[in-house]
Amino acid sequence: MRKHLALFGSGRGSNGEAIYKAIEAGHINGEIVLIISDRPHVGIVEKGRAWHIPVHIVDPANYGIEAAWTQAMLDLLQEYEVEGILLAGYMRILPPTFVQAYRGNILNIHPSLLPAFTGLQAQKQALLKGVKYTGCTVHFVDEGMDTGPIIAQAVVPVYEDDTVDTLSTRILHEEHRIYPEAVRLFCEDALNIVGSRVVIKKQAIIK
Ligand code: GRF
Repeated sequence: MRKHLALFGSGRGSNGEAIYKAIEAGHINGEIVLIISDRPHVGIVEKGRAWHIPVHIVDPANYGIEAAWTQAMLDLLQEYEVEGILLAGYMRILPPTFVQAYRGNILNIHPSLLPAFTGLQAQKQALLKGVKYTGCTVHFVDEGMDTGPIIAQAVVPVYEDDTVDTLSTRILHEEHRIYPEAVRLFCEDALNIVGSRVVIKKQAIIK
């Protein structure tokens, strides 16, 4: 059975596209059955429509209280029988009750080597700190911000003449490689959360 996946995004959607293409190429035993965005006029929404995948705009501002927003998302996930949630440039903190309902089944990509540089503008944080290497991390989502168990990471060098743009481009290239690979492993049920670590089943080596 192909795992039913929901993609959550707020922007451009390049990671979503990398995952979509890996699915189309037959590399992932899953299927994006639903896209949720909090913003109507963004790349991920346009892409989803072009791919003929149901897109729902769920903006918390329309729900008043957090519980109603949470329930609206949970209802959609149930309707589409979603088993895995992929955050890809989703700019909201998910409510704890939502995280608890799908614990161990929500993945996120972050443009730094976690636990360094959590939160917004991770690439700018890395430049300001003067680190020589940074990168990206795919992790399971817990109630914290960018704190859940780490699934995969990639390292990129930081050069002296880097700008936020040049560094972000170098990191994004790696994001598009490791996120689909992490989703592949997730869809094979090859990721075991043991305490705060992720153990990858032996037969499913990271490529
Ligand atoms: C990526 O840099 C990702 O790491 C971060 O937000 C950005 C999303 O880009 N969480 P895109 O929408 O996938 O193109």
